[in-house]
Order: sequence, then structure tokens, then C-alpha cells
Amino acid sequence: MESTQFSCFIVPKFQAFCFLVFSLAMAFVFLILKYFVMRPRVWCKCVICQAYVSSSWSVKFKNLCDWYTYLLQDSPSQTIHVHVLGNIITANPENVEYILKTRFENYPKGKPFSTILGDFLGRGIFNVDGDLWKFQRKMASLELCRISMRSYAFDVVQHEIENRLIPLFSSFAAGKEDRVLDFQDVFRRFSFDCICRVSFGLDPRCLEISLPLSEFAVCFDLASRLSAERAMTAAPVTWKVKRMLNIGSEKELRKAIQMINLLAKEVIRQRRKLGFSEHKDLLSRFMGSVTDETYLRDIIISFLLAGRDTVASTLTSFFWLVANHPEVEAAIQREADRVVGPKEKLTSLEQLRELQYLHAAIFESMRLYPPVQFDSKFCLEDDIFPDGTAVKKGTRVTYHPYAMGRMENIWGSDCLEFKPERWLRDGVFFQENPFKYPVFQAGLRVCLGKDMALVELKSVAISLLRDFHIVLAEAHQSPRFSPGLTATFHGGLPVLVRGKKSSASTESTAAQ
Ligand code: HEM
Repeated sequence: MESTQFSCFIVPKFQAFCFLVFSLAMAFVFLILKYFVMRPRVWCKCVICQAYVSSSWSVKFKNLCDWYTYLLQDSPSQTIHVHVLGNIITANPENVEYILKTRFENYPKGKPFSTILGDFLGRGIFNVDGDLWKFQRKMASLELCRISMRSYAFDVVQHEIENRLIPLFSSFAAGKEDRVLDFQDVFRRFSFDCICRVSFGLDPRCLEISLPLSEFAVCFDLASRLSAERAMTAAPVTWKVKRMLNIGSEKELRKAIQMINLLAKEVIRQRRKLGFSEHKDLLSRFMGSVTDETYLRDIIISFLLAGRDTVASTLTSFFWLVANHPEVEAAIQREADRVVGPKEKLTSLEQLRELQYLHAAIFESMRLYPPVQFDSKFCLEDDIFPDGTAVKKGTRVTYHPYAMGRMENIWGSDCLEFKPERWLRDGVFFQENPFKYPVFQAGLRVCLGKDMALVELKSVAISLLRDFHIVLAEAHQSPRFSPGLTATFHGGLPVLVRGKKSSASTESTAAQ
């Protein structure tokens, strides 16, 4: 009896074990075959591929994007092919228009991209094509264009500046000794607080004066870094096997995503309990038409990713450039004194709109340092670009805003100089052709948060530049970037902050 019980127990367990081993082995073989058989070319002797594979490019260039820029400037068609990556990279505006508008349907984000980000972003707008994308795009653009949404975003941003950013800077400026502040870290905290409030109506308080660690922000950072690292592994099979076995970085990623899911679920539950019809955040607005909880989570997480690091990255490079160009800082200051008043504070979206020079300075800084340095799609059917490049089905195609900002044939011989004036006609901001400047992408999938981003960028820029002297703690030459989805300065941006006398905010902060 006992032995029957034992064998009843042990045999199914043994069978299950064998089945598991067999499944893992088959999956492994499948992934290896897929990688080696279906990859476009695993070995290539051309100069570009050899330099890529051996990393010899890094002897002469600080960043991969600088090497690509050099190659694209050198190419007669402004297009190159990295065969070992199966990737065609272009800085040619005609090709960019062709990919993003003319033959949009032939260049979706594609499965490879959505697999890499799928665990983190799910079915959120950033990660889908076709009908799922169309539905979210329509709904999101409707909500983001509402006047009520714009003024809500403006209020959130002003609150964060007045109650967190300025007090933090004032505390650093008031110290007897110089203390170094990492601007990049501050801007990441600032933009996380803002985008969480706009998206969820939730305040993670990352920018409180003690600079606390938010569990949500930590998990979010980890998940986006590890997801980006998936995209950078030379052989995707590596992360897929690690995920299957739940080991190493994939185990960490899974844990971070589980925590994000728990927190998101809790936020959605709370919103539902408190009632969402009165609230102005995006989640409450979407809840009117979406009931599926996971889908709601995915929609909102995509917004956090889209709106957080991009804004922080722009602010970091903007302040780095302005600190190196005192004449631009002085011009911004003069314009702010004229539009807002020498001792007044910014009070409305209309005033922000009038700051044309500041607008130009921000666009100029993103021309040289776009937060999204490159962006890829996948070709569905064999095609030919306007410059004559043949594109095979399944090829990854990448347009490269970082390189495009440095092309003489687009911006002229002074393309490497920081000159906000190039964006002004008779003192008024002039919008360049978006396919020459695809910093916010362009065409049918153009960024939906551009206006909101500009409210954040302009508000922070004038609040800080009018009230504080910002001095770089280290004489940077040109930035080295950390790998990731968005441009990040390696080592942050250490600065020293000193107060300017008799400015509007320092006076009011001192009086509190
Ligand atoms: C300086 C700041 C920003 C820059 C440079 C920027 C840039 C971009 C780029 C390049 C894309 C295309 C990405 C891709 O398809 O792979 C994009 C898409 C998007 N952005 Fe932004 N973005 C910024 C801020 C924001 C903000 C603050 C929000 C949120 C309110 C936002 C919401 C979105 C959304 C929802 C999409 C997806 C659009 C679609 O797929 O149809 N962005 N953005």
C-alpha cells in the first residue's frame, strides 16, 4: 500500500521533471536556431562591422553615437548599414519622412522591440502597433489636447517648482560652504514627481528636501535600465534563456516589474474607490473608457516612461550648455524680465508662450543633445529608400536625431555651435521641418507630450536661471553617455548653486 502511494507520488513528479527538462532543452535549441539561422549576417568583413565587433571605434570616439555621426557625415547618402546588427541607420531627412510618414505601415515598431519591452510596458502605447496603438493614440491625444489637462499640468509643474525645486536650491545656495548638487538626479526626481501626478494623480515626493528614495522610482529605473540592456546584448538569446531560467538580471527585472505591478494595482484600486470622474489625471480620464486593470496599468506605465527621462535628459544638457554659454543665459534673463517682469513670478501659460528666445534655446539644446538619440523600426516588406538604399524585409531601420543635429547639409557649417538664434525669424520662433529635426519623432507617431514637456522645460529653466547662479563643479569637455533608452550623462551633472540677490523667488523663500 505504502509503495503504491509512494510510486503514485514519485512517478508523476519524475514525469513532470523530465517534461520540464525536455521543454527547456527544446526552447533553448529553438532560440539558438532562431538566433543563428534567422539573423541577417553573423559575420561580416566590412570596415564598419569589424570596428563594431572589435569595439575599435572606442579608441577615437567617446560614445557610439559620435562614431555613428562620423560615419553618417562621411556617407554620400547619409545612410550606413551595420550588417552584423542587421541595422540600416540613416540621417537623411527624405528617408526619415519615408519611414515615419510615406510608408508608415511598412515600418512598425515590430516584434523584436515589443518583445524586449513587453514584460515592462505590456500593451502600452509605446510598445504596440496596429489597432491597439490607434485606440490609445486617439484617446490620449484627445485627453492631452484638452485645455483642462494643460492647465492641470501647468499647476502640477508650478507646485513642484515652488514647493520643492526652489526650496532645495535655496538650501544649497544658503550654505556657507559650497555643496555639490547632481543636477541630473534632481531633474529625474522632478520629472518623476510631475509625470506621476499628471498620469496617476499620485505624488511620489521624490524631490522633497531630504531627497528620499522612492521604492516606485527605484523599481521603475531598474526595470527600464534592465529592459534597455536586453536591447544591447549582442545575442538576444542570452537574455531569453536567462528569463526562462529566471536568473541574474532577468530575475532582478522580474522582481522590479512585480513591484511596479503591485503599486500600480493599488493606485488603480484607490482611484476606483475614491471615484475617478472628478479627477484630472490621465488615469482617471482613461478609466471612463477602459475597465481592464492590466491594460490600464500598461497605458499609464508607457506615459511614465515617455515623460520622465526625456524631460530630465533635456534639462541636464540644457543647463550644461547654458553654463558654458553665459551670453545665452543673459539673453534668457533679459527676455524673462521683459515678459514676466523683473521681480515678478511666472503666472500663466500665456507668459510661457511669449518666451520665444527661451523656446529657441531649448530647441537648440535638443538639436545637439536629443534625449532620444536614435529610434528604430522594422521593415515589413522589401523596400527601397528615397536615397536608393535597398531594405530587406525584417531589417531594423534606425533614424538618428543625434547625428542629424550635426549634419552640415541640414544646419550649415556652424552646425556644431550652440546658437538659439538659428530658430528665430524676426524674434519669433520658427519651427523647422520635423523630418530634419525628428527629436519628438515626426509623422503619424509624433510625440504626444511635446507641449507638456515644453511647459516643464521652460518653467524650470526660467525659475532657476533667474534666481540662481549655476556653476559647473567639473570642467566638462563633452559628455560621455551611459547606455540606456534615453541619453544620460555618465556620472551625472555636478554643479554648485549660488543665489542671485533680490530675485523674486529667493526673496519669497527667505520670507517663509
Ligand atoms: C523633451 C521631452 C520629450 C521628448 C524629446 C520626447 C520624444 C519622443 C519620441 C522620440 C517619441 C517616439 C518614440 C518611439 O516611438 O519610439 C515619443 C513618443 C511619445 N511621447 Fe514623447 N517626448 C518627450 C516628452 C513627453 C512627455 C512629457 C510625454 C507625456 C505626457 C510624452 C508622451 C509620449 C507618448 C505617449 C508617445 C507615444 C506616441 C505614439 O506612439 O503614438 N512625451 N516622444
